[in-house]
This record gives sequence, structure tokens and C-alpha cells, in this order.
Amino acid sequence: MNLLPSFPPHAFDGRLEDVRRRLEAKLSRMRIRLHGKTPHAAPDGVYDDTALDWWTSGFWPGILWIMYGLTGDQAWRDEAWPWDERLETCFLAESDLHHDVGFQFLPTAVLKYKLTGDRDARRRGLFAAQFLAGRFNPKGKFIRAWNEPDESVGWSIVDSTMNLSLLYWAAEESGDPRFRHVADAHAGTIVEHFVRPDGSVRHICVFDPATGEWRGALGGQGFGPDSAWSRGTAWALYGLANVYRYTGDTRFLDASKRVAHFFISALEPDRVPLWDFRVVPRDGQPRDSSAAAIAASGLIELAALVPPAERPIYANAARDILLSLTDRYADWNPDRDGVLLAGTGHMPEKKNINVSLIYGDYYYVEAVAKLLGWPHRVF
Ligand code: GLY
Repeated sequence: MNLLPSFPPHAFDGRLEDVRRRLEAKLSRMRIRLHGKTPHAAPDGVYDDTALDWWTSGFWPGILWIMYGLTGDQAWRDEAWPWDERLETCFLAESDLHHDVGFQFLPTAVLKYKLTGDRDARRRGLFAAQFLAGRFNPKGKFIRAWNEPDESVGWSIVDSTMNLSLLYWAAEESGDPRFRHVADAHAGTIVEHFVRPDGSVRHICVFDPATGEWRGALGGQGFGPDSAWSRGTAWALYGLANVYRYTGDTRFLDASKRVAHFFISALEPDRVPLWDFRVVPRDGQPRDSSAAAIAASGLIELAALVPPAERPIYANAARDILLSLTDRYADWNPDRDGVLLAGTGHMPEKKNINVSLIYGDYYYVEAVAKLLGWPHRVF
């Protein structure tokens, strides 16, 4: 199920080779500068060094593995190799790992296993999948998001849709369908409670953890409970396309398409969204380039999954977003960290606004790699 037909290279207007060369030049320099760091945000062209258990810690190693896959150069592999073992230490001591272990172990352990066959990486991926499945609340049919005692016990967030690929991979790899049962049930909850009829998406849904009853929505990283956080929309678009790829259930394809239609129609004229599609007032609000990059990579999946007559809607949208990111938002200066400028991390908490974000960089690199014919899929 992982080998999707590669996207037609002409869809990127013959620019792909140039982008590949620029990425290699820039990321090679970052590889030397970032050695030993766990990068998350680069406010002034210098990536920070964040906690290993933070949800973003898998993205830099994911970039390293993708670059190894694209180039075959051992230097990328050597730098990427220790990361899943490093991340595993978070399971062996007190840490704040939560439902985002998918973001952390898919582009590290699972991708390493796919590329190298390393059995320890496989074991770590399966261990992370068991941890994720263990967060499932069978009454409410949702995966619990965070770890704070009391109030967040019944919270689930839309970002989780992307973590489901870890469960589907584990079901295939181990032959144990329980992983798939959990993923299917949670994905059903996403469609039922998170995706609104117009294709916009809620960030946080609150359930009664004892009875499973739906209690309402919270704004989370969005402008408010009724708004439309653009990165959350991108997580749903991409995640639901993946669920369809794994299940063949058209409920998920239809939901992904609905979210995609909302996302595409609500973009700014330069094809990059504001951090929330429904923020008011709109003037002066920052964009989020990471939402654009995630959506572009998801739209490439969607284009490969729909019948040929529907493909141009999604393929053209992905192309337009990537061209805009490449021409308007990419920082090709090799002396600075960060591929994409203008990411917004957490607007309500006023954290990491108008910066480079490692997940924006990852999904931009992933999308370009897909266009170059890179056959692997971890999300
Ligand atoms: N998963 C958290 C975020 O997208 O910011």
C-alpha cells in the first residue's frame, strides 16, 4: 500500500531539479550546524535546541532520512541513524510523550526500518505504536491527546489524524489487527466530531472520559472554538487521505476532499493561509507557511488517490502552493537555518510567530521528494 504512483514531474513546471539542488546545498550546511541539536523553531535564521520529548523531535531526522533516500549519500544516513535510539530514551525515563509519538517515530524508527531493515528501529516503531494504542478511550472512541491530569483526560485533538499512520503501519508489520481497530475507530470520531459540514475543522474536542459523551469544542491553537486553525485543517486533510489509503473506506476520502476544498478555497491570493482562516480582524495577521507545506504534501496524496478526472483539482493546488512557497517563502541562504520563512507555531500563546518551523521544513522537503518520485510513505 505504500507505493503510490509518483506525481508527474511536469506538474512543478520543470523546476524540480533546481529545487532539489538548492535543498541539498542548504540542508548540507544545516546538517553540520544542527549536529546534536533537536531543532524546532528558528526565529532569526538559527534553529533552537528544544526538549527531546517535544512533539517536533522527529522532523529533523526525517529530513535527514529523506535526503539519504534521495541522494544515497552516507553522510545523511550517519547523521540520521542514532535518532530513534535517542528518542527511545524518552520511554525509559519520566517524559511528556503523548499521542504525537506518530510524529516522532514515523520519520525516525519507521522510516529507518523501511530504508535499512534495521530490526531495532522496527522494535522501537512497534513499541511507540503500542503506547499510542494505549491512549485509546473505548467508550468515546478517541485517542487521548495530552498528559495533564484531570482536565485533558477527555481531550482529543485533530493533529492526531496524522499519528494514525503509526497504528496502520504496526497492524501491517505485526499482523495484529488491534492497531487497525483503534485507528479506524479514532478516524471515525475525527469525521463525526472534528470535521464540520463545510469542511472546516475543530482543533480540540472534549469528551467525558467516563461515558464517552461529546461535551463540545475548544479553540486550542485556533482563534476560537468556531474558527478554522489552518494547520489543524492541513493535518485533517492529509491524515484523512492516509486513512483512506490504508482502509479503502470512502468515508475518509470524502472527508479529506471536503477539508481540501475548504482549505483551497480559503487560501490567501499567494496560496498560503493565514494562521487561522476565520481570524478577525484579518489585517496584519501572520500567515502559516507550515500549514501550506503540510497541505501540499497531503494534496499530493489525495491527487494519487482520487479517480483521474478529479486529480487536477488537488494536483494543481499542490503545485501552486509549492511554487509560492519556493518563490516567496523559501530562504535559500546556506548560512541561515530554516527552509521556509513565515511559520506560525502557537498564535494564542504568542509563541513562534513568523519564524521557520522544523515541521514546515519537513513537509516541504517531503512534498518535493514525492514530486521527485521518492516512493516511501511514513505518514
Ligand atoms: N501538533 C501541534 C501543532 O501542530 O502545532
